[in-house]
Amino acid sequence: MTGRGAVAGRAHALGRVIAMVNDKGGVGKTSLVANLAGQLAAADYRCLVVDLNRQANLADDLGYRDGDGDDQGAGLVLSVLTESPVVPVRDVRPGLDVVPGGARLADLVPLMVSRLQERGRAAFDVLAEVLAPTAAPYNVVFVDCPPESTILTDLALTAARWVLMPTKSDVGGLVGMRLVAERFAVARERNPGLALLGAVLFATGSRSRRVHAEVRGAVEAAFGGHSPLFTTAIRHAERSAQDARRLGRLAHELELEVAAQPAWWASLRAGTSAAPRLSTAAAGVAGDYRDLGVELLTVLRAAEECTPTREVEAM
Ligand SMILES: Nc1ncnc2c1ncn2[C@@H]1O[C@H](COP(=O)(O)OP(=O)(O)O)[C@@H](O)[C@H]1O
Ligand SMILES: [Mg+2]
Repeated sequence: MTGRGAVAGRAHALGRVIAMVNDKGGVGKTSLVANLAGQLAAADYRCLVVDLNRQANLADDLGYRDGDGDDQGAGLVLSVLTESPVVPVRDVRPGLDVVPGGARLADLVPLMVSRLQERGRAAFDVLAEVLAPTAAPYNVVFVDCPPESTILTDLALTAARWVLMPTKSDVGGLVGMRLVAERFAVARERNPGLALLGAVLFATGSRSRRVHAEVRGAVEAAFGGHSPLFTTAIRHAERSAQDARRLGRLAHELELEVAAQPAWWASLRAGTSAAPRLSTAAAGVAGDYRDLGVELLTVLRAAEECTPTREVEAM
């Protein structure tokens, strides 16, 4: 393949890579990645998730921490070091593969710092290079980005085609979003096909139009012009979120377990009422993720029609 052909091939392979980014922690990046990938995989979309977080909350949400294949990010670091394709752990759910993160990712930042000294900003292309051969067969690839790491954010944004940005309605999430806008502008110099899919309001107790309008205004102020806020928001449901992370279950899996849970009075009669009960809010949260998954696919298809492959290939 010619150099130009190779670049077009890589852009095509990475055409469905979505970076989940906000510089602020606790705004729902990992919860959204786990649940969207889980629900899309359940609907027969082949999904890959790349975890760039040292804390690796994704391993808790998907329940694979310390299991077979949980290498704490060692494989990802080795891929970057040797510039060879990433190797995912297969089927953490049917159709859902993961490149795990974890403590070993601590080596990634110093590695990138020395590469940046050698190669300048071209060093940021490495994730795109090691991800492209693996990403090609997947329908959707999510990159779960860490908070407060300019280098890892830049790495993700240079590999991604799309950005999805969760935020809470508070100031912290909105400031984090402004920092993403800065990194987005820088990444587009190397990765001109990068585009913002939209922002998602996370863990909100509010259905108020005013709150939604404020967040929409903040996205537009950060990114300029027409910057979509997804219609679907994820409702606030703290107990259900705790159940999910403690048990390694996704919201739609908890929804089924909640439905199968005996009535509280039946537990009382059976003498098992001391056992912790699952929050019944799981069904509502699962419904929000379901709606968001459908909206994501709709927005993605519309965005792909607006920026046809031709443009990607011309990069
Ligand atoms: N629907 C929800 N309502 C309230 N809290 C939630 C909800 N979903 C997840 N959480 C909690 O929010 C916190 C941050 O979520 P997380 O997805 O880890 O954010 P990030 O990846 O941006 O740091 C976690 O403690 C998680 O349990
Ligand atoms: Mg996270």
